[in-house]
Amino acid sequence: MTRSRGAGAVDGEGGRTKESEHAVTDDPIPPTLEWAGDRVRYIDQRLLPGELVVAEARTVPEVCDAIATLAVRGAPAIGAMGAFGVALAAVRGEDTAAAGEALIATRPTAVNLAWGVQRALAADDPVAEACRIAEQDVATNRALGGHGAALVPDGARVLTHCNAGALACVGYGTALGVIRAAHEAGRAVHVWVDETRPVLQGARLTAWELQRLGIDATLVADVMAASLMASDEVDLVVVGADRIAANGDTANKIGTYGVAVLAHHHGVPFYVAAPSSTIDPATPNGGAILVERRDPEEVCVVAGRRIAPEGIRAENRAFDVTPAELVTAWITEAGVFHRFADALAARS
Ligand code: MRU
Repeated sequence: MTRSRGAGAVDGEGGRTKESEHAVTDDPIPPTLEWAGDRVRYIDQRLLPGELVVAEARTVPEVCDAIATLAVRGAPAIGAMGAFGVALAAVRGEDTAAAGEALIATRPTAVNLAWGVQRALAADDPVAEACRIAEQDVATNRALGGHGAALVPDGARVLTHCNAGALACVGYGTALGVIRAAHEAGRAVHVWVDETRPVLQGARLTAWELQRLGIDATLVADVMAASLMASDEVDLVVVGADRIAANGDTANKIGTYGVAVLAHHHGVPFYVAAPSSTIDPATPNGGAILVERRDPEEVCVVAGRRIAPEGIRAENRAFDVTPAELVTAWITEAGVFHRFADALAARS
């Protein structure tokens, strides 16, 4: 893996890669991933918000490592990264099927990963297909954001969990895409950003994105959501998703289910924003979704500093499942659906 800080890859202030064929234009957030002929360029999300570093993966193991270590994370982003991994194998004359297996094995919960890998494997030209997936991701998120923005009234106070922004995709974002589209439509929006323990995607990534976009935001500890809702300071919740089962049960970052229960108790609408590629008709319900268990050290060590005694047992479930009955509506590129069966039927 090669890293470049600033010059040569990204200018460090939201610039575009020189060799980019697929860069998102006019965007304060640089593309999360880009194909660069014989390698993939990606923002190393582990280093944000301190440093905006564009790293490069030239081999399938390097792509696998970037996904497994959360340098590239977020369901649509790992879908595109998986497709680029297959593209790299093809360019290097390697066994693409074996590459696909290794890529899919890196993270089990987000269905987008297998979706991206399989699309690239099935194509005559995996490079062209991977680039298409990346381009389509941004268009899909803009469409999804446009539909969802109608649910965000002027002056809305919106709570979100984890990072479902541009960084979690190739560009624009899903849950943050909805917020962003409302902001771009001229509406005042205030975002409560859950910090999102243990890996702090909210504090590190969502807060960074919202600052760059000029969207008013306040960072809160995850445990504050109940208090905010009790004092009537949340008008709606919007989150992303990693896998949506055939009955609408929705896996997303650990802690999402608790937010959904709170929202239900307080009569706050709870929206899930995700591309159709996150819907998995082959998984009948949430009980059949495999939830990734990550290294317990992520719970015990924050920003390199140990916060728990050596030897304490810790558990680190990366996701939880929100039952469909707690979801007010699902927002996809095809529209806003209050019944999940309609979202399933409309998927492209
Ligand atoms: O472990 P992560 O950071 O990959 O988890 C990401 C999430 O849970 C996101 O909310 C989800 O992937 C939706 S991203 C548009």
